[in-house]
Amino acid sequence: LPVATSGAYNQEVLTPPVPPTGLEQQWDVTVQPANTLTNLSIPQRGNFIGFSVELSVVGQVLGLNSTYLQPPFLNHLANIKERAGAGPIVRIGGNTQDQSTMFDNTFPDKFGNPQMITKYQPLVNGNPTGTPIVEFAVELFYAMSNISKLINTEWYFGLQFIDPYNNSNAMEVGTVIQEVLGSSLLSLQVGNEPDLYAGHDKRPSNYSMQDYFNEFSFYMESVQSSSIPNKKLFLGPSVATGTWSCQQVIDAGYLTEFGSYLNYWGMHYPNDNCPGLQQLTAQEVLPTYLTHNSALTFSQEFAPITAEVMSAGLPLAILESNTASCGGFPGLSDAFTSSLWAIDNALMLAATNISTFLLHVGGHNDNYNPFTPPPTNISGSYGWTTGAVYYAALAVAETFGSSNASQIIDMNLPSEFRPGYAIYENGSPTRVALINYASDDTGASDYDAVIQIAGTTVPDHVSVRYLAAPSVSEKYNITWAGQTLGGQFESDGRLKGTLETQTIECDQTNNQCIVPMRAPSFALVFLTDDAVTRSTAPQGSSAVTFATTVTKGKNNRPVINPSILATMNGGGGPNYSRILGSTGKAAPNAGIGSLSLVPALGSLVAVVGCVLAIQGLMD
Ligand SMILES: *[C@@H]1O[C@H](CO)[C@@H](O)[C@H](O)[C@H]1NC(C)=O
Ligand SMILES: *[C@@H]1O[C@H](CO)[C@@H](O)[C@H](O)[C@H]1NC(C)=O
Ligand SMILES: *[C@@H]1O[C@H](CO)[C@@H](O)[C@H](O)[C@H]1NC(C)=O
Ligand SMILES: *[C@@H]1O[C@H](CO)[C@@H](O)[C@H](O)[C@H]1NC(C)=O
Ligand SMILES: *[C@@H]1O[C@H](CO)[C@@H](O)[C@H](O)[C@H]1NC(C)=O
Ligand SMILES: *[C@@H]1O[C@H](CO)[C@@H](O)[C@H](O)[C@H]1NC(C)=O
Repeated sequence: LPVATSGAYNQEVLTPPVPPTGLEQQWDVTVQPANTLTNLSIPQRGNFIGFSVELSVVGQVLGLNSTYLQPPFLNHLANIKERAGAGPIVRIGGNTQDQSTMFDNTFPDKFGNPQMITKYQPLVNGNPTGTPIVEFAVELFYAMSNISKLINTEWYFGLQFIDPYNNSNAMEVGTVIQEVLGSSLLSLQVGNEPDLYAGHDKRPSNYSMQDYFNEFSFYMESVQSSSIPNKKLFLGPSVATGTWSCQQVIDAGYLTEFGSYLNYWGMHYPNDNCPGLQQLTAQEVLPTYLTHNSALTFSQEFAPITAEVMSAGLPLAILESNTASCGGFPGLSDAFTSSLWAIDNALMLAATNISTFLLHVGGHNDNYNPFTPPPTNISGSYGWTTGAVYYAALAVAETFGSSNASQIIDMNLPSEFRPGYAIYENGSPTRVALINYASDDTGASDYDAVIQIAGTTVPDHVSVRYLAAPSVSEKYNITWAGQTLGGQFESDGRLKGTLETQTIECDQTNNQCIVPMRAPSFALVFLTDDAVTRSTAPQGSSAVTFATTVTKGKNNRPVINPSILATMNGGGGPNYSRILGSTGKAAPNAGIGSLSLVPALGSLVAVVGCVLAIQGLMD
């Protein structure tokens, strides 16, 4: 394949760590009654895991414009909505939000077709810099609005902050986006990873937290005198939890000074893998991702501030995250390791009262994308690629289900390689979530989870859905409840295969239900049939999906050699060379191709308008 060298399609297969030894084959999992627990989480929603899309790639990921949306993107979101009973959450932003400007009108491409975004690579001393300058049209908000109409998507959007003292365009963005999106806009992010501004040359090297506070303050004063309708719809501080900790930002007075403007608290990645910072290889860090300690460490970073931020009325969102920043690790961020890691981290964050965990989608050079459109020049004949980490979003959506009332607790099981969580709804335990981190196809690391419910008899049966793969290093042969999204370039965002929910008879005499746990795997154990119902997506014809094949009008579409798309030049100014595709956190020129298409029935329809119109194409 032509793209094996880019991060999203890397061929790296890591050697799984040696399985842990000395653990019992019969593994006690005793669920405690809710009224004996003092530390149950706040009620969580099934859309706990959502996605963060780098602003510079919205044209490839969301679609060309408001009437040409990408069906595979819609399907990846619809899968969450169907399990969570709530709109999936998407944030648009990232490093590229900081140098973005809104325009009223769309940008014509070479063929005159209107596009909602365009970008330029600024040249410094003749060399392109890493982060492009992005221009987007109000059309982007219409596209977002249309997506919300189809699948109730809720949005965060990142505002420009490169020059906070010249914010008139940002104030217009705030006004227009609130008017177009209405209640589907959750919040506007102000400042993206300000703690890294000095290091990333976005500010002078002596840029301090006080400078950031001064800028934020000026920005909020501008908001007060702007026509932005809701002036308390902002999110900060979005620190990368690198240079400045959330605690330091609070200690410096952030909540006191700005709390009244905010409606969310946001923060980012657990691990920094940016050039020059992370010296370890993927193989070296792999074992640290295959243990519950990873989730404990990440959540403990926020533990000191959670109660204080919540008492200021702000839900906490991990706004941009994934296995590690700057694209993640090849062979790890795109393998089953990342599925288990993301489930454990999401559940642990939920157990510690974080409300949302968003997995970042960057460009082709990123290893960690939950979903990636095919590169431009092969977009006519290839589908999307669903990343291993995406499966965590399905599993977690079902772990909480659609009641909006699921409270979770870490059961503190006595091995870092076999964590477990209990989930309660309205005071009753309804689900148990278990992980076996060992990667071992000999069977020696399989275990039997012996589930008991303290103070009561087990039900006569439980139902189980597994997330399964042959090894933690597997990239594509991954199934959730028997269904898969397929291999590289094979995905249209719809699950294939038959839904498998296993029924396990319990032993009521000995008061236990024995759930086999293969190594490696995740299991979601439903303690009641109602809980299964509340987590199950509609099947067959009642499922909401978006077709990706042209069924009508394909002969009317012009056919354009896809290679033209890769070399298109627009009207960049004299100081700019236009680039195709880019990412915020990834290396320069790491773009997702400009458009994509899955094969039409029997013919290639590789055209600029190849992102299919939504109207009339719902299955
Ligand atoms: C697509 O582009 C890549 C990167 O520029 C190149 O290596 C590859 O040969 C191209 N493939 C086709 C089918 O044109
Ligand atoms: C979206 O793009 C298509 C194809 O270029 C074009 O025909 C259509 O008019 C565009 N829609 C809008 C609202 O710009
Ligand atoms: C999408 O937005 C356009 C406006 O740009 C509107 O005409 C169209 O009806 C919308 N489509 C849907 C499905 O909401
Ligand atoms: C302020 O920002 C706008 C775009 O938002 C830009 O056109 C203008 O040149 C900027 N002004 C200065 C003085 O930098
Ligand atoms: C989460 O919030 C609930 C309800 O306010 C509280 O009882 C619990 O102790 C909190 N958990 C943590 C880890 O702060
Ligand atoms: C859960 O919350 C969503 C809004 O986020 C709402 O649309 C849905 O109806 C709620 N479900 C229940 C069962 O209350």
